[in-house]
Amino acid sequence: MIQKAFREIFGGEPEAVSRAPGRVNLIGEHTDYNDGFVLPAAIDRAIKFAGRRRSGRAVTLHSLDFRDSVEFSLDDIQPDPAHSWSNYFRGVSKYLEEDGDTLRGAEVVFGGDVPREAGLSSSAAVEIGAVAFWRKLLGLGLSARDGIQLARRAENQFVGVPSGIMDQFVSALGRREHALFLDCRDLSYRHVPLRNEIRIVVFNSGVKRALAKSEYEVRVRQCRQAVAQLARAGLAVQSLRDVDRAQLEARAGQLDALSLQRARHVVSENERVLEAVRALERGDVARLGALMNESHESLRDDYEVSSKELDILVELARRQPGVLGARMTGAGFGGCTVNLVRADATASLSQSVQREYKKAIGREPEAYVLQVSDGAWAGE
Ligand code: GLA
Repeated sequence: MIQKAFREIFGGEPEAVSRAPGRVNLIGEHTDYNDGFVLPAAIDRAIKFAGRRRSGRAVTLHSLDFRDSVEFSLDDIQPDPAHSWSNYFRGVSKYLEEDGDTLRGAEVVFGGDVPREAGLSSSAAVEIGAVAFWRKLLGLGLSARDGIQLARRAENQFVGVPSGIMDQFVSALGRREHALFLDCRDLSYRHVPLRNEIRIVVFNSGVKRALAKSEYEVRVRQCRQAVAQLARAGLAVQSLRDVDRAQLEARAGQLDALSLQRARHVVSENERVLEAVRALERGDVARLGALMNESHESLRDDYEVSSKELDILVELARRQPGVLGARMTGAGFGGCTVNLVRADATASLSQSVQREYKKAIGREPEAYVLQVSDGAWAGE
């Protein structure tokens, strides 16, 4: 319990607590920074904050997971490479101040059970949890949308990862037992009910996403390059969101081979998300699963962000009865797979995949059967 941890570390009671979940993405990978579509869900693993005000402008921040504390001044908020776990909170605090909210000195503790570097967005959960914490502690009138944008800015500008908006969005506005269908261009969204007959199972490959940051940046650049080449080929495009498969193939000769490959993934993935939403809404879970399978193939072959371990996990799962679809989830290069499974097949699936993966890779993957949970702004 986060209140108990606060009492042990700082003594006395916290004045405010917040909770922000991690996420799993059902489909729509590497589409958010291309103004496209995504279909993630908030998971039942979260980061929690507890804290209270104190006089002055110093913040003491304690991480339960790192068992470490730092102190910083609200008057000079800089990234701290020696305590990089604190940078998400620092970045959020800095931009709240910049946007005109006067913060106060505070004692804050945070921690949770979202695995780090597993593709389940522990960093977005820390950012959104930090925004929600300050908002509660000081009664800030910050909307979910403003909080989401601010959290993303902390990730992009303060931490320095050029990610899209999906993770922060679903951590704030996800809804229990629903997936969140988001248009990353205009930020319109709708909650799509998940069906009773299916479960979402996650396997953690146990491989940290080693290449993820540098290769992620490379993919962002390659997509921009593809857009520039399509514009030179006479298409009115601002981002890959503006292109459909037929338009892309008609201009295939005017793109270099790698740009074409990357664009093929993004363009086809956007179409898959739209179809996936329709399939889920009419209860066609088999079609949704098939689209998830296609998504994995596209990420593996065209976008080249999968890994040997992720491919093995996907193959092993697909052999099991009751599995409708399996794919890598998140940025890739390690982390987790997401599996769409018939409700009565989850136990046998986890056992078989854990056994077979251990034979192949030498270590047992963690398995979670997810409960889709509420985001930090739920119920408001
Ligand atoms: C990471 C980023 C997201 C998104 C995914 C890939 O999770 O933070 O914005 O780009 O990768 O879909």
